[in-house]
Formats: sequence, structure tokens, C-alpha cells
Amino acid sequence: MGFILAAVGSAVGLGNIWRFPFQAGAEGGAAFLFVYLGFIALIGFPAILVEFVIGRRTKRNPVGALKELGGDRWKYVGGIFVVTGFVLLSYYSVVAGWFFQYFITGLFEGYTATTPEELGAAFGAASSGTSALLAHAAFMIAVTGIIVAGIRSGIEIAVKVMVPGILFILLGLAAYGAFAIPEASQAYAYYLQPDFSVIAENWQTLLPAAAGQAFFTLSLGMGVMITYASYLGEDRNLAEDAAVIVSLDTFIAVLVGFVVFPFIFQAGADPTEVGPDAIFVSLAQAFATIPGGRLLGVVFFGMVVIAALSSAISILEMLASYLIDEFKWERPKAAAAAGLAVFVLGIPVTIDLVFLDLFDGLADSVLLVLGALLVVLFVGWVIPEDGLDELTTGVENIGSLGSIWLWAVRIPIAIVLVISLYLGATGYLEFLADDFLGWLNG
Ligand code: TRP
Repeated sequence: MGFILAAVGSAVGLGNIWRFPFQAGAEGGAAFLFVYLGFIALIGFPAILVEFVIGRRTKRNPVGALKELGGDRWKYVGGIFVVTGFVLLSYYSVVAGWFFQYFITGLFEGYTATTPEELGAAFGAASSGTSALLAHAAFMIAVTGIIVAGIRSGIEIAVKVMVPGILFILLGLAAYGAFAIPEASQAYAYYLQPDFSVIAENWQTLLPAAAGQAFFTLSLGMGVMITYASYLGEDRNLAEDAAVIVSLDTFIAVLVGFVVFPFIFQAGADPTEVGPDAIFVSLAQAFATIPGGRLLGVVFFGMVVIAALSSAISILEMLASYLIDEFKWERPKAAAAAGLAVFVLGIPVTIDLVFLDLFDGLADSVLLVLGALLVVLFVGWVIPEDGLDELTTGVENIGSLGSIWLWAVRIPIAIVLVISLYLGATGYLEFLADDFLGWLNG
């Protein structure tokens, strides 16, 4: 139970609540949802098992685990995980700081913005400048403090309260949207009725976007799930545990879509134009209009901050344990150094949102997919017998499912990941050449 709670705590976070809705909006709504759900079921689920088998087999951290099973060369994959973790956590913390500010606003002032201009101004004030920087600092201090202290027990309690709490509020908001927002039917059509010609036309952007989002939301591609599974007993059925984690995580993300899109359509906004402000703009408006909205808002934003904390902890723990193992640093020193480096790296994001695209594009469309591809190839081709044996440990009757998993991992999944990586990397290079260079040139 402790393992499932910790893994859910890592998986459920800003990926579900902040990142999913604007990816879905920008990539065409139902077209994205369709490709995303396919990716989660056919690639995300087998890929989480790949990390689980490595972790439980070796009972070690990612770097040590890959080295033990595959020899010295494979430890460099751990180096990729570390780079990914630094980049990802730097902007993750800044965005968590935005939620923290909306929490504080609700606590002291309440939510008053209702017009698009007011909502946009409120988001602008929270997302850049001194307050964004201070909130980013506060969040990193909290994460670092927890890792220095090595607290485990608090996380389980936090997850037990936070996940049902978030689900409860989201269900309430979704019901409100369904009954009280006339534009809801348009919103559902956009979100739920895939146009297959759109998918066929846009698959080159849909595929890498779905891949990146799937790995981001399931905490894959960075060795975090290797670490968590290293604490797992031989009696556990890995596939069952993975199914629980993947379903819960996916359910929460999909539910957020049911909440956000009705509000976007009510405001008359173009859903394909939404960006990282989507959840803030739509929910701040909701909490300003619904009776009891202020209290709901404070509780909701507060719980999202906790969800972000329990995810960020999993990343900083990975970074710190790398420094502890590799350089034999003491835990407090390793955690403080990693936390400080992450904080500094995140500072540009509080100055201009172009750095959010710069970091998120790199981490999400390139590094996570690369990390996931490498561990998939590792289990599929370097240690297939160990992998299969570990998958079936603790399972009474798996039949041929185990070998189906192994063959899926060896060929089709690896191929889809190579294609996703290629498309994600070329898309990122285009972003660098057009948007980022353009921004640099003013
Ligand atoms: N899954 C988390 C979220 O959705 C973020 C996260 C935590 C993560 N640990 C990770 C992403 C490791 C990639 C790798 O918010």
C-alpha cells in the first residue's frame, strides 16, 4: 500500500491538472484525447512495467540498477535522467509557485476576476516577476527541506487526503459545468468527438505531444519509478499495481478536461489558443462565480500544491541520491546543492514564459522520450530473461501475457518511441530556430 501511495503521489501532479488540459486544448481536443489514451494504454502501461521490473530486480537506484544489470556503459543513461530531472523540476517548481499564489490570493482576498481581461491580468501578475520568483523559492525550500529530512511517512498521509479531495472537487466542478454552463455541449463535442481526418492530418505533432504528456504524467523516462519499485516486495503483482496507478492518474487528467473546457467555451475563448494559463483562467473564473467558490478555490489550489510537492519530491530525491551515490556526499549537502541548482535554473522562467517553452520542450518532447526509449531497449534486448522473470514474480497465472509484453516492448513500442523521439526532436529544433531565436532577436 505504501508503494502504491508513493507512486500515485509522484504520478498525480501538475501533469494532470496543469499540463494535460492545455495540451489537449492546443492539439485539437478530442484528437489529442484519442491519441493520448491510446498511448497510455499501449505504451505507457507496458513502459511503467519496464521501470518496475528493473527496480524490483535490483533493489537499487536507477544508476546502480542499470550498471548492475547491464554493465558500466549503461550507467550513462543515469546521467540523462539527472539532466532531465534538473530541467524538468526547474520549471515544475515555478508552475507550482503559480498555484501557491492562487491559494494565497483565495485565502486573503478571494477570487474576483471574471472578465477575460481581469483573468488574464491576474495570471500575468502571478506568472512573472517578483511574486513568481518568491513562490518558486518557497516551493523549492519546502521540497529541499523534505528531502533533507528524509521524510517518508508524511507523503502517504498527504496522498490519502489529497487524491480523494482533488477528485471530489473536480467531480463537483464537472457537474456544475454540465448543469450550469450552456456552452457545455459544445465543449464536450470539442473534447470527446474525435475527427479522424484531423488525426490523420496532424499525427506528426499529435504523436510526440501524446508521448511526452504520457511519460510526464506517469513519471516515466527519468528512473523515478525504478527507484520506487526498488522498495517493492516479491509478493506483489507488478501489473496489478501498475494498472491501479495508471488508471487513477488517467482518470484525474481526463476529469480535468471535463472541468476546464466548459469554462473555456463559456468565456468564448478559442480552445486551440489556450496555453499554460488555461487551468488558472478557467478555474479562477469558476471560483469567482460559484456560491462558496472562495472556500472551494482555497482548498483546491492548496491541494494541487500538495500534489505538486509529492511529485517534486520524487524528482529531487532522484537527483540527491545520484549525488549521494556518485560523489559520496552527505544527504543534507546533496539535497541542498541539487535544490539550489534547480532553483537557479528556474529563475529565467519567472522572467519570461519563453523559457517555459524552452525547458518544457526539451524535457518533455526530447529527454523523457529518450529516457523511456533507452530503458525499453534495455529490458527488451539486454535483460529480456530477467525482465520477464521479474514481471511474473508474485503472479499466479499470467499465461502468455508476459511474453506478449516482452515482444511488444522489444519491437512495436521501441519503434513508436523512435518515431516519437524523432518528431519531438525536430519539432523542438523548429521551435528553437523560429520562436526562441525570434525572441532573442527581440
Ligand atoms: N508525474 C508528475 C506530474 O504529473 C511529474 C513527475 C514526477 C515526473 N516525477 C517525474 C515526470 C519523473 C517525469 C519523470 O505532475
